Amino acid sequence: MCQETKVGIIGLGSYLPKRVLTNQDLEKMVDTTDEWIVTRTGIHERHIARPDEATSDMAVEAAKQALADAGLKAEDIDLIIVATITPDMFFPSTACLVQHKLGCRHVPAFDISVACSGFVYGIAIANQFISSGVYRHALVIGAEKLSSVTDWSDRGTCVLFGDGAGAAVLGPVNSGGIVSVYLGADGSKGDLLNLPAGGSKLPASKKTVEDKLHFIKMNGAELFKHAVKIMADAALEATKPLNLKAKDIDLVIPHQANLRILMAVAKRMGLSEDKIYLNIDKYGNMSAASSAIALADAVKEGRIKKGNKILLDAFGGGLTWGAIVIEW
Ligand code: UT7
Repeated sequence: MCQETKVGIIGLGSYLPKRVLTNQDLEKMVDTTDEWIVTRTGIHERHIARPDEATSDMAVEAAKQALADAGLKAEDIDLIIVATITPDMFFPSTACLVQHKLGCRHVPAFDISVACSGFVYGIAIANQFISSGVYRHALVIGAEKLSSVTDWSDRGTCVLFGDGAGAAVLGPVNSGGIVSVYLGADGSKGDLLNLPAGGSKLPASKKTVEDKLHFIKMNGAELFKHAVKIMADAALEATKPLNLKAKDIDLVIPHQANLRILMAVAKRMGLSEDKIYLNIDKYGNMSAASSAIALADAVKEGRIKKGNKILLDAFGGGLTWGAIVIEW
């Protein structure tokens, strides 16, 4: 019988556009205050891409770093997955554009639309292909240009989002690696967070533009409740098969939706707050890019050491969710 290959993250990279939009800048754009944004979300500033900078451009920069970190070249990659809800265009996929821009071989490349849980889903998919021996090295990227689908006159959403990209190279490892994966979705609550127009149901028209239906619509208060329960439950589901207790987790890398959500998740899990990695203050919510960049930053800052047990934990539109335990 063939032995399953152990799979780990062997390289990480991230990219943030240069322009920083502060809460003080937003005070001049909509009826809001720095105090409201900080106390309700934990966000101080976020990065915004240039008009000519597309999701694939940010993805490529993050991917180059991840490849260098892994000591690999573009031609070593066997599979490319890009998690995004802000692709450059409907098709070709952003993953195909990334494949070309990076100079990869003609390897499989596809996007996944899983909103904020996209990076976690991408890692889970790549893990399957590598552990089964089909491929050796996969590039998983979470990249978003949320500023392109943000209604900059809606204070309920425009203060939350930012742009960026994070990338991971996955490959065989001798020990540890990905030890547990739990994914889920609930399509009945899709209307809590969506972008209504531009698809086959409501194609782009003068009216859809006038009605601002090409922007993110969100029922924040309702999502908040689901996020706390679902992220805590997902963490439990991923750790249960390993008999891990909250105290055994060295660091949680959560999707950065809202500081209050993350503190409530920590409380529900019985975890001390310092075990939750946070960078929402600097970047806001970058959907699929959030957990990818958080993981890259945590490693860069020395917060993750060899042998640590790391929990990726994400929740997003769909609804979707996912949690993964990695022995570093
Ligand atoms: O990425 C994964 C999916 N996303 C999430 O999980 C997001 C989850 N939700 C949230 O993070 C929070 O619900 C928000 C940060 C979006 C909103 O915070 P909240 O504490 O739930 O506020 P709220 O929506 O209940 O609004 C409270 C008040 C309202 O005013 P009234 O009706 O009480 O007079 C809003 O109009 O705050 C008002 N408000 C604002 N005031 C100043 C909403 N946005 C703003 C703003 N500045 N930017």
